[in-house]
Amino acid sequence: MRSVVYTKRGGMDAIDISESPSPQPGRGEVLVEVHRAGINFADLMMRQGLYSPVPPFPFTPGYEISGVVKELGADVENLSLGDRVVSLCGMGGYSEQVVTLAERCFRLPDSISFDAAAALPVTYLTAHHMLTYLGNFQPGDTILVHHAAGGVGTATGQLAKALGASKVFGTASTGKADFVRSLGMRFIDRESEDFVEVCKRETDGLGVHHALDPVGGKHMMRSYKALRSGGRLYAFGGSAAVKGSRRSIVTALRMVLTTPKFNPFKMMSSNKAVFGVHMGTWKDEAVLKKSGDPRWWRCLRTGESPLMVDKVFRFEEVAAAQQYIHDRKNRGKVLLDFSPE
Ligand SMILES: NC(=O)c1ccc[n+]([C@@H]2O[C@H](COP(=O)([O-])OP(=O)(O)OC[C@H]3O[C@@H](n4cnc5c(N)ncnc54)[C@H](OP(=O)(O)O)[C@@H]3O)[C@@H](O)[C@H]2O)c1
Repeated sequence: MRSVVYTKRGGMDAIDISESPSPQPGRGEVLVEVHRAGINFADLMMRQGLYSPVPPFPFTPGYEISGVVKELGADVENLSLGDRVVSLCGMGGYSEQVVTLAERCFRLPDSISFDAAAALPVTYLTAHHMLTYLGNFQPGDTILVHHAAGGVGTATGQLAKALGASKVFGTASTGKADFVRSLGMRFIDRESEDFVEVCKRETDGLGVHHALDPVGGKHMMRSYKALRSGGRLYAFGGSAAVKGSRRSIVTALRMVLTTPKFNPFKMMSSNKAVFGVHMGTWKDEAVLKKSGDPRWWRCLRTGESPLMVDKVFRFEEVAAAQQYIHDRKNRGKVLLDFSPE
């Protein structure tokens, strides 16, 4: 089987395609023939050596896949050969075949395409986990989300609508205004508008209930400032560490050094909360299962929330696919096609 491999820390020159024997599923595992693998911003950061935790180089990235079950390991009862599934495989998804835990697989209804399925796990799980499990989201709440046209951004917009948010403020690059508005969000131009000011102005001076910040650096304190009393900030990324497809250590350091150190006493007097969120290191499977369960499929089946898949690249074009995201061109999710030709 062929896999995408990061051979070392670097730019696109660090990406290779390698050939290896098919892996064997162990107890509780299945072998999946991969049709689609989702690309996440974290994959780009891993390639640049700006992400933790990651396996040592060389390794195959890829948190999520959709495909067909080809082999069953011992004691697998929830799946059968030939099942179409989506899986949060943890790592190694950029591959023609993946061994993954059966309990991390969800069987797909016929109506759900491999594209739609592979776009779901990380984006929806992250958005859902923050808003509902951590954030005690209530109908009528207001949300601020950054990179609103991206993977987690579009999932947040759609989930927020399904959950009954009264308003979702979405920041993105200038050219994405129409796209962000088409998802029912209040577009804020990240290049020319002050999102704190807009959020306050349009919530009677109060601020938002939930601010989702995957940017880090100084930006994170601004997201905190956009919150109302009782509001919750979710610190879930550091995209400000990335400058183009090559690593810039100065940019990465600046992000780290300017990220706020929150003072609990100040948080107390302003009645605000800060959650650190990393789905990759989340351990409680029962909570994940609850998030992974019904709402996604119902939304997809009824077409209530059309998922946003922007572009699908053949896996041999993985560098072009990642460059597309570095260039901030994506509107929704970017996938890799591993299906047998
Ligand atoms: N903690 C977790 O568990 C978790 C899980 C999933 C995602 N995340 C984080 O959430 C963020 C979004 O992830 P995603 O996978 O959904 O990606 P994405 O939003 O699809 O990422 C691409 C978009 O990010 C924006 N962006 C911001 N800084 C950028 C930069 N330096 N280079 C290129 N694009 C940049 C661009 O949109 P605009 O120019 O329109 O802003 C770009 O189109 C990332 O920071 C990621 O690490 C965290």
